[in-house]
Amino acid sequence: MQNTSSKEIIYQVYPKSFQDTNDDGIGDIQGVINRLDYIQELGVTTIWLNPIFKSPHVDNGYDVSDYYDVDSQYGTMKEVEKLIEEAHKRDLKVLFDLVLNHTSSSHKWFIEALKGPENPYRAYYIWQKTTENNTLPNNWKSFFGGSVWERDSISGEYYFHLFHKDMPDLNWENKKVRNEMIDIAKFWLNKGVDGFRLDAFIHLDKAEGLPDAKYAEPGQLIGAEEFFANLPRVAEYVKEFSAALRKEYPDVYLLGEASSADPEKAVKYTFPKGQACDSIVSFKYFPMDLNQKDQRLPLEIQEGKLDIQQFKQVMDEWQRKVGKVSEMTLYLNNHDMQRAVSRFGSPMKFRNESAKTLATMMYLQKGIPVILNGEEIGMKNLELKKRENTRINDIDTLYTELLKKGISEDEVKLFLGAISINSSRGAMQWTDDTYAGFSDVEPWSGANQEKIYNVSAQAGNPDSILAYYKKLIQLKKTELFTSGSYELFITASPIMAYQRQYNGEKAVIIANLSEQMQRSPFDKKGLIDAEVLLQTGQFKLSEDSIELSPFASIVLKQSRKGDLL
Ligand code: GLC
Ligand code: CA
Repeated sequence: MQNTSSKEIIYQVYPKSFQDTNDDGIGDIQGVINRLDYIQELGVTTIWLNPIFKSPHVDNGYDVSDYYDVDSQYGTMKEVEKLIEEAHKRDLKVLFDLVLNHTSSSHKWFIEALKGPENPYRAYYIWQKTTENNTLPNNWKSFFGGSVWERDSISGEYYFHLFHKDMPDLNWENKKVRNEMIDIAKFWLNKGVDGFRLDAFIHLDKAEGLPDAKYAEPGQLIGAEEFFANLPRVAEYVKEFSAALRKEYPDVYLLGEASSADPEKAVKYTFPKGQACDSIVSFKYFPMDLNQKDQRLPLEIQEGKLDIQQFKQVMDEWQRKVGKVSEMTLYLNNHDMQRAVSRFGSPMKFRNESAKTLATMMYLQKGIPVILNGEEIGMKNLELKKRENTRINDIDTLYTELLKKGISEDEVKLFLGAISINSSRGAMQWTDDTYAGFSDVEPWSGANQEKIYNVSAQAGNPDSILAYYKKLIQLKKTELFTSGSYELFITASPIMAYQRQYNGEKAVIIANLSEQMQRSPFDKKGLIDAEVLLQTGQFKLSEDSIELSPFASIVLKQSRKGDLL
């Protein structure tokens, strides 16, 4: 894969939910192999698979107990080799998800480390001695709740875990740890893998001395990112890792997951080109308007609505700042957040329109699309059926309370789906069968059963979201949309509009990101004769304004000499 990667389009496969072939309710490697033709037909160039290594699945595979082996619930090493081979036959590259920051507590390194301070693997992890009065070594809060410290009853010392207590953090100051990770990566590169998503790599460096967050109340735990995210050595570690791999595998592709990275940090992690990450996935793309919440529903667990005005500025800022050194990723979905149609779109009223328009608006910008499986058929959040899928305990009581308030059952279901940790991890909807054609038995996550929103219903329909995605992906691969310059227009808030230009070619993308008809001042000079490359919903151009129906979008291309705007 070339470092510029400008024609790359990544398809994220969440293997546990993609296709089950042995009817245990869990997706598997053979399922991905069976669907490679489907993936190829989408027109994407690369598959990113969430972790498939051996794991106790405390965190769906992000807790790895053996990086050199495949989890038996997914299949065998032979099948993985076959997957890589079959993907390559179809010109698809394969990225694996490499968990660098922590292992599972069942990993042999940690089992050794637990044997005591003298064990050579002790220094693979981060330990603190117990203080006299048995207080925690510091007041940092883990992402999974509670302290980042867990007491090991044998030695009485505490080990550090940013995530779950069964996911102890590795000590990256230890050169041996860094070399182990390089060896692991090489092992998979040698098997033909084309690159990696670097999971949670921004946490590899922790503040010197692991100090308390001073501003906390006594006894309070603090999610103090300044002590464990984006610290100076992170970039050094990534560069060392990258250099070691690129020496033997110059084309390896590194996609860094940097949840809290702003554009400046993304620049740091991707510069110089070819010597660090190739691209960054940041979670900071989507500013939510915390004032816009549904007052009838519990406020503290709602995200609010996308602040479109701010979102446009964020996109523009990333283009300007990051675009100079690397390509930004363009995404709407991943396994850690709600499905975009539910979160930013219109799951009840304008589902088709919002699915198509969100994709158009996002992917025709400059950068690398990363599409989560199911997005291409407009999958919404998983409808909540299982109590354990949610972050709140008493889901049944909440359910009844909301119904009593007069909120419709459909709306309550939507809301509960939104707050589920598995909201975007529902079974891939291949058909409208009970288990969505994913399996013959109940999927581990549950599945939405939907008439229209499945692959088989959309496959033959030229107006479907699936057909639209294929067209959009083809268009995205043309030079105008991979290499062309990007310029955001100033428009009324729920409309996003920008221009791409390349070698005398020009295109304008205009999208209404709301459930209402929108009109915005717009200079139409040259647009009347422009060719409509893609259209969703209705639009009307008058002398100085543009009107778009709810969640409508258009892609216009200059069809003859002259300026579009
Ligand atoms: C990343 C993953 C997330 C996981 C975490 C810990 O953020 O995307 O799913 O829980 O890392 O590995
Ligand atoms: Ca299976």
